Amino acid sequence: MADFWDRIQILEGDITDLKVDAIVNAANNSLLGGGGVDGAIHRAAGPELLDECRKMNGCETGAAKISGAYRLPARYIIHTVGPVWQGGNHNEPELLAACYRNTMLCALENEVKTVAFPAISCGIYGFPAERATVIAVNEVYGFLIGCDQIERVVFVCFNTEMLSIYQSVLDTTI
Ligand code: APR
Repeated sequence: MADFWDRIQILEGDITDLKVDAIVNAANNSLLGGGGVDGAIHRAAGPELLDECRKMNGCETGAAKISGAYRLPARYIIHTVGPVWQGGNHNEPELLAACYRNTMLCALENEVKTVAFPAISCGIYGFPAERATVIAVNEVYGFLIGCDQIERVVFVCFNTEMLSIYQSVLDTTI
């Protein structure tokens, strides 16, 4: 099994540009689109994505569901719904961890080998970026050491501030 470090990548960019097996969407419970990365993914994937999402009956916070990617270079989109930050005493850390775990499980069930995550809940949902990043890295690390089907996980940062947070967390967490 390739070393953990060979299987984790951090980059700054737009997740809709990535040619990976699956990109992850930070969706809302309706799965009917929104702003942020959800809006960018729906715009780039085209209207067929919304048509499919309409039949998916929404998604629980912390859960993950897979769809096609249509006009995107990726093969699939794994939609997950992060928690809205409410101060940290409403199960937000556990729900965010569940997003990463359930997304990785969904990838495993669909022969996905490369997956790209945005910083789930760190935008409109207001989760503090450092705490969210520690959760993201620990959940993905814990999953990857037990599973070699997933060859690469990319953390896609939309700005340099988030990139440096991921870099410092990776340098210190593991
Ligand atoms: N590529 C990669 N990352 C992106 C992109 C993009 N094209 N656009 C935004 N981001 C980043 C944001 O900068 C943030 O760091 O994704 C992270 C998540 O931010 P949001 O998209 O706001 O997602 P979230 O905080 O989970 O809020 C979800 O926002 O868009 C709505 O429908 C969505 O209601 C849901 C809520």
